[in-house]
Amino acid sequence: MNTENGLSLFETKAAKGGSSAVAYKFFAFTVFVSIILIWLYRLICIPGAGEGGRWVWICMFVSEILFGLYWIITQSVRWNVVHRIPFKNRLSLRYEDKLPEVDVFVCTADYVIEPPTLVINTVLSAMSYNYPPEKLSIYLSDDGGSEFTFYALLEASEFAKNWLPFCKKFKVEPRAPAAYFERNLDLQDHVSAQEWFELKKLYEDMKSRIETVVQKGAIPKEIKEKHKGFSEWNSKIARNDHQSIVQILIDGRNPNSVDIDGYLLPTLVYMSREKRPQRPHHFKAGSMNALIRVSSKISNAPIILNLDCDMYSNDSDAVRDALCFFMDEKQGQKTSYVQYPQRYHNITKNDIYFSVARVTHQIELAGIDSNGGTLYCGTGCFHRRVSLCGMKFSEDNRSELKSVKDEIEGRPIEELEEASKLVANCSYEEGTQWGKEMGLVYGCPVEDIVTGLTIQCRGWRPIYYNPSRYAFLGIAATTLDQALVQHKRWSEGSFQIFLSKYCPFIYGRGKTKLAAQMGYCVYLLRAPISLATLCYAIAPSLCLLHGIHVFPEVSSLWFLPFAYVFVTKYAYGLAEALSCGDTLKSWWNSQRIWLFRRTTSYFFAFIDTIIRQLGFSQTTFIITAKVVDDDVMKRYENEILEFGSSSIMFTIIATIAMLNIFSFLWGIMRVVLAAESTRAFQQFIPSIILSGLLMMINIPVYQALFSRNDKGRITFSVLWKSVIIVSVASLLPIY
Ligand SMILES: *[C@@H]1O[C@H](CO)[C@@H](O)[C@H](O)[C@H]1NC(C)=O
Ligand SMILES: *[C@@H]1O[C@H](CO)[C@@H](O)[C@H](O)[C@H]1NC(C)=O
Repeated sequence: MNTENGLSLFETKAAKGGSSAVAYKFFAFTVFVSIILIWLYRLICIPGAGEGGRWVWICMFVSEILFGLYWIITQSVRWNVVHRIPFKNRLSLRYEDKLPEVDVFVCTADYVIEPPTLVINTVLSAMSYNYPPEKLSIYLSDDGGSEFTFYALLEASEFAKNWLPFCKKFKVEPRAPAAYFERNLDLQDHVSAQEWFELKKLYEDMKSRIETVVQKGAIPKEIKEKHKGFSEWNSKIARNDHQSIVQILIDGRNPNSVDIDGYLLPTLVYMSREKRPQRPHHFKAGSMNALIRVSSKISNAPIILNLDCDMYSNDSDAVRDALCFFMDEKQGQKTSYVQYPQRYHNITKNDIYFSVARVTHQIELAGIDSNGGTLYCGTGCFHRRVSLCGMKFSEDNRSELKSVKDEIEGRPIEELEEASKLVANCSYEEGTQWGKEMGLVYGCPVEDIVTGLTIQCRGWRPIYYNPSRYAFLGIAATTLDQALVQHKRWSEGSFQIFLSKYCPFIYGRGKTKLAAQMGYCVYLLRAPISLATLCYAIAPSLCLLHGIHVFPEVSSLWFLPFAYVFVTKYAYGLAEALSCGDTLKSWWNSQRIWLFRRTTSYFFAFIDTIIRQLGFSQTTFIITAKVVDDDVMKRYENEILEFGSSSIMFTIIATIAMLNIFSFLWGIMRVVLAAESTRAFQQFIPSIILSGLLMMINIPVYQALFSRNDKGRITFSVLWKSVIIVSVASLLPIY
């Protein structure tokens, strides 16, 4: 085989030069020593039994132990950060006529929360990849079992006949029509204006047809007569109770499936697996597994791309980039999946809900990758089919990237549909390894992470690829409620993994590197670490109100390690964020969101996990809505926090904000009135600084409590609750 002087298809580069890595290690060492000193201080200076503040002292100590251990774990993802660089030109030169087939899976679950037009935009962006169409198949899994989604997909299959040639002819980007037409016609794009307007009209018409049908709540008879598929929806179908539906809307094997220019179209399949009320359906993992089996009956491609329905492809070459990692002659054999970061197209300038998480995506995940522990995040991920299906990696059992299609060739479309329906039935998985050793693992709300871990433990090597031009774009949360609920679910599921048999330290022992196991735990341990943050946000301020000091006085030597850790941690965090492209303001916003998440989402995740471990409640899955009204959208665009509802999470946020403004003012008053001796004054300085910082972070909360009049402000009931809680807490003695 011609490998062009052995040039590889991708390269791995260390992110930083050697010297700064040494500097970093020295810095980390000094922080580590300071942490030890802080622990020592807590041990040596603990107030005697019976003295005021002993319990608070112990709480602070436990928090500092948690913080310290967590900090040690996070070092594993900063030690060695790598970047991957694929060379798709070399791929084309060597393999253009031997490119493997690719199946794209798009998952949707509810036509109200995820409107059909959103879904088909993702589908169309995948259909129009710069890739041979006869090697591309798109599967839509509709867990809502909705004929509206089916209808939208049918419309999309027609629209594709115009859209794909247009994309090809003018090389337009991005290839999701909604995102493309959002921009105005740019003459520099070399697009014929006439065709642009024609296509835009075609798209708008299709969109309004779909929206009209959804609004009416029923599909007109004349549309139903156009496709046999509608006959599946009889009067008995309910969302959670229906037979398997598989409809091949475009059969890529058929030479008559062509666009308006006569070029072949990719295969397009609608699937809604069987659902019965008494049978567990395992949420998204169940639908992914059904997709794996159904696609094996229709195209059986060796590479699978997995997308959420709200995540369109922003780069028509993404498939080629990813293939470099699979097809490299030396290292490609071992690649199990290629994970792209989750990016969003709906981000405001200063990212008020901290959705982008640049540091996580550019540093932490790339750091885990260098240890071989890339996380599978459930979307924007290319898989090798055999590794996803449970095969172990072995050097001599090399899998070829060819699809085995003996069963498929030449069979009529109806037979394929029937065969597919069988494997999408509830009963099919009984007594099989699906959900255990094969496919996505069941029984955990964040099944992706567990699945990724099991794949690594079977000897495969995943890759994290973070291109500068974002390849996949989803929709970020646009209200605080969405943002917090989403994180509650993630952190809760992650913490469950830590407590289960899949805990990376146990399950991965001997199979993955220790650093990779630690890297996983950066995410899995977010829930318990919330306790430490809660303690830090509440205890010192409360003690300030009661005149109890919990930090060493400023003139004491013990104060130094506290100051050092605090200042360097924030300075380093800020430098890191700026180096990743955050603005100063977005860094500041991120500090607020961290505080909110840790005191609410992660805290509730912790409580719920413990309750579940004790056997009290069942996992529930909340899909967060992707659409909000115009008013809310306006506020989002103006970067104003959206509270609105009276969730218990907001009560906590408001209470902490109130507590800190009280204690700060109280502390300042004491200082001003000079009611304290110099020594006592010095003892309270650290608490006053802490309250002051928390107060500054919470400024938007005070605005939402007192000065805003819009619907997104904090409700009065939350305001009163927080005032009452803070008053009671400051009056009650705390011993
Ligand atoms: C995303 O945000 C932009 C402005 O930032 C807005 O114009 C657009 O409507 C939003 N789209 C969705 C789907 O929320
Ligand atoms: C999406 O793609 C377009 C061009 O195709 C590019 O200009 C834009 O920067 C990309 N979006 C992001 C967020 O990278």
